[in-house]
Amino acid sequence: MVTPKRYTITAALPYTNGPIHIGHLAGVYVPSDIYARYLRLQGKDVAFICGSDEHGVAIPMKAKKEGITPQEVIDKYHNIIKQSFADFGITFDNYSRTSAKIHHETASEFFKKLHSEGKFIEEVTEQLYDPEAEQFLADRFVTGTCPKCGHEEAYGDQCEKCGTSLNATDLINPKSTISGAVPILKKTKHWFLPLENYEAFLKQWILVDHKKDWKPNVYGQVKSWIDDGLRPRAVTRDLDWGIPVPVEGADGKVLYVWFDAPIGYISSTKEWAAREGKDWEPYWKSDDTKLVHFIGKDNIVFHCVIFPAMLKAEGSYILPDNVPANEFLNLEGNKLSTSKNWAVWLHEYLEDFPGQQDVLRYTLTATAPETKDNDFTWKDFQARNNNELVAIFGNFINRVAVLTHKYYEGRVPQPADFRDIDTQALEQMKAYPAVIGSSIERYRFREAQGELMNLARLGNKYLADEEPWKTIKTDEERTKTVMYVALQIAAALAVLSEPFLPFTSGKLKSILNLNPDVGWDAISKTTSLLQTQHQIGEAALLFSKIEDEQIQQQLDKLEATKATNKTETNNSEKPKLMPQKETINFDDFTKLDMRVGTIIEAEKMPKADKLLVLKVDTGLDVRTVVSGIAESFTPEEIIGKQVTILINLAPRKLRGVESQGMILMTENAEGKLVFLNPDVDGVGNGMTIN
Ligand code: MF3
Ligand code: ZN
Repeated sequence: MVTPKRYTITAALPYTNGPIHIGHLAGVYVPSDIYARYLRLQGKDVAFICGSDEHGVAIPMKAKKEGITPQEVIDKYHNIIKQSFADFGITFDNYSRTSAKIHHETASEFFKKLHSEGKFIEEVTEQLYDPEAEQFLADRFVTGTCPKCGHEEAYGDQCEKCGTSLNATDLINPKSTISGAVPILKKTKHWFLPLENYEAFLKQWILVDHKKDWKPNVYGQVKSWIDDGLRPRAVTRDLDWGIPVPVEGADGKVLYVWFDAPIGYISSTKEWAAREGKDWEPYWKSDDTKLVHFIGKDNIVFHCVIFPAMLKAEGSYILPDNVPANEFLNLEGNKLSTSKNWAVWLHEYLEDFPGQQDVLRYTLTATAPETKDNDFTWKDFQARNNNELVAIFGNFINRVAVLTHKYYEGRVPQPADFRDIDTQALEQMKAYPAVIGSSIERYRFREAQGELMNLARLGNKYLADEEPWKTIKTDEERTKTVMYVALQIAAALAVLSEPFLPFTSGKLKSILNLNPDVGWDAISKTTSLLQTQHQIGEAALLFSKIEDEQIQQQLDKLEATKATNKTETNNSEKPKLMPQKETINFDDFTKLDMRVGTIIEAEKMPKADKLLVLKVDTGLDVRTVVSGIAESFTPEEIIGKQVTILINLAPRKLRGVESQGMILMTENAEGKLVFLNPDVDGVGNGMTIN
């Protein structure tokens, strides 16, 4: 593409069925924010667009679970999510929501246009239907085995294991997630987008035109999707939550959430443009606009196949220039999971690490799952803070600010003659905007942030080598030069850190009293970002050490989550308890003659797996009891055991042996029988139990 005139940057619209966690931040929102901030620092025209994804079956499901209405669910999480983004410095130009009127209108218009131009196939097909819940089952309402990879818990719209996008009827052994019932097939009318009509276009556009510049993971998924053969894809659903299908004969049907949500990027752009007094259309319809979608890997087919096919069918829109999807982030070796509460929630992080948003942003970028799944660990988080942010970046800035105040009352000194090492340091500094920028433009945010740290390292090393704290006693002129150079590097860091560490950048700009408008390109053009005599601000610490106890606390929290999940699983596996029996009166109870006895002999009943023949000393006599406990005990282990025995039960013959009582027992968690053992010292045989 020729130099773009403007940029439309979208970040996947999060579902409002829960708060957001580090996985979302690492995969989508931090990288897109770095990109948007970088472009703005270069003075580019940017629309950075997002909003809440509020339709789809996940919302009514969540509402059911929480016992509130779908509207209450979306309001609750829309606000929490929006706040988290603001707290972490994600600079969307607009954060909208798909329940907004403008979105309902935009999505309806889009559908109507395709409908009236005959771009859909209208078809009565058999869809999965839950006969117990009496509703159609699409998407998340049905699980089963993925026909592609065999994963047993694939959803009706997608397998999260292999990323394949599915139709519910593709699942092997489908099961309703509402009632657990096996679905039946039932006829219903729907509108389909015939993806196969766009095969040639998709092949040319992605497999040829973007073969080189799209990430291999994205390209690979798309290729395998196209190679598998494209089929018509339903764009409507039988559901009562969503945007009503805006044509006749579609009562009780809504637009498929993946049809309406990406159009949300367009509606959100419209909302922004209206507010800013701009025209939204160039951002979506002009060839000199660069459109980039930031998403996680589970969204690839929707953004690279289905949405582009929709845009192409509509005809007046541009297509994304790139879709730099990330892989997944794990947490301490396990998959992040909202339902299992295996996550670091952003709002909770801020309670435990107030004001330390940048540390999380930094760690997530340093371990970003750009080319493969990656693991977030609290130990790594601590190490990155203590060994990198504190020890390198923070240490350098602190030395510069403190010494400038100490030696020059906070004024930038007049440098004397530059030595090679000074010129070299300044020349290297000037190269960084291009180096970091080139990585950002290729969506390599980890690498870009690594380069930023290299500049901090350069500054740190320069000071350590030149030791102004020593030369101040011997060579004042030399000290001035060194401090001048160090101050320039500090100023460059203030600007270049902004996309990655926006809060730190802000603090650093105020420490240096740097004009907040200094842009990215200024650094490569001058070696006097801070001019002689410029008065800097007060010194302040940029980062502080994170202690072992803080990390332990987080690990403990995760352990507690594990324990809770375990008990929950155990509880759900618990055998059903017997309901209470009929009430008896006290007289009935006193009729039972229960005693303490001791087993004095035990042997197996011949040819019976379950039975033992016991001799029990009841204190009154020694009697024979036939007991069905052979699967739980060997004869040897119970000889000598004290037990509770009911002695006035009418005798009964079992396999020819008369049983003259009954030993009271229960079952433990593993289903093994255990005695109701009196287990009290000094209780003799024959004592009554009442
Ligand atoms: N809500 C989806 C998810 O969290 C993403 C929607 S992206 C959009 O996976 F393109 F549909 F908006
Ligand atoms: Zn699969």
